[in-house]
This record gives sequence, C-alpha cells and structure tokens, in this order.
Amino acid sequence: MNLVSLALIASVAAGVAQAEPPRVLLEKYRCYLCHADHEVKTGPAYVDVAARYRGNSRAVAILAATVRKGARGSGPWHMPPHPEVSDADAKTMVRYILSLQKK
Ligand code: HEC
Repeated sequence: MNLVSLALIASVAAGVAQAEPPRVLLEKYRCYLCHADHEVKTGPAYVDVAARYRGNSRAVAILAATVRKGARGSGPWHMPPHPEVSDADAKTMVRYILSLQKK
C-alpha cells in the first residue's frame, strides 16, 4: 500500500466520523418542509429567526431546546416537537440558522 491510498483511507474514515453538515441534517429531519433559509413558509424564515436572536448569548441552547420540544408562539401555526433529534444535531442546525444573514 502506498502513501496516497493510506491518506485516502484516513480522510474517508475521518469523513464518516465527522458530524453531518447542518443543511444535510435540516433535510434529513424534514425541517425544510416548513422552513426555508430566506423565505417565510409555514414556519418563519431562518434568517428572521437569526435576526431575532442576534446578540442573545443563550440563543443556541434556547433554540436547540425549542427544536426538540416544539414551539407554540403567537402565529397561526405551531411547530411539532422533534424528540428524535439529538441535542448535538439540534445545536449543529441552530448554529447554522443563527449564522444566516439577510441577502
Ligand atoms: C410542521 C412544520 C414544521 C416543521 C417540520 C419544523 N418547524 Fe420549525 N417552526 C414551525 C413553526 C410554525 C414555527 C413558529 C412557531 C411559533 O412561533 O409558534 C417554527 C419555529 C422554529 C424556530 C424558531 C423558534 C423561535 O423561538 O423563534 C426554529 C429555530 C425552528 N422552527 C427550527 C426547526 C428545525 C431545526 C426543524 C427540523 C428539526 C423544524 N423547525 C421543523 C414549523 C415547523
């Protein structure tokens, strides 16, 4: 076995061990059925959520809990709970949501 194939195997193994990227998780958990990054659907646009929580140092913890427990705010729709989402996955998605900027 040469060095190149060793390096290849190492990088593939690292890729498997790594957490899935946030947009893959948002597809997998079907968040995009009700949400879009820059567009209001049944749920609020993620960019608007980011704007609302900007400067809130507890935003990741609060929103990760909201994703798992569901949300019932003032709007006509509420968000169902997602108990199948792990805390780590919820935080990965929420960090991505909070990173969005208005175009
Ligand atoms: C069935 C539709 C639906 C699905 C599926 C859904 N959401 Fe929501 N989501 C909503 C609605 C509606 C709201 C607004 C809730 C309210 O304010 O009453 C919301 C609100 C939110 C908020 C903002 C909460 C806040 O306090 O401002 C975040 C973050 C969020 N959703 C993330 C997610 C993630 C991540 C997923 C996937 C695991 C997901 N949503 C799946 C409908 C949905």
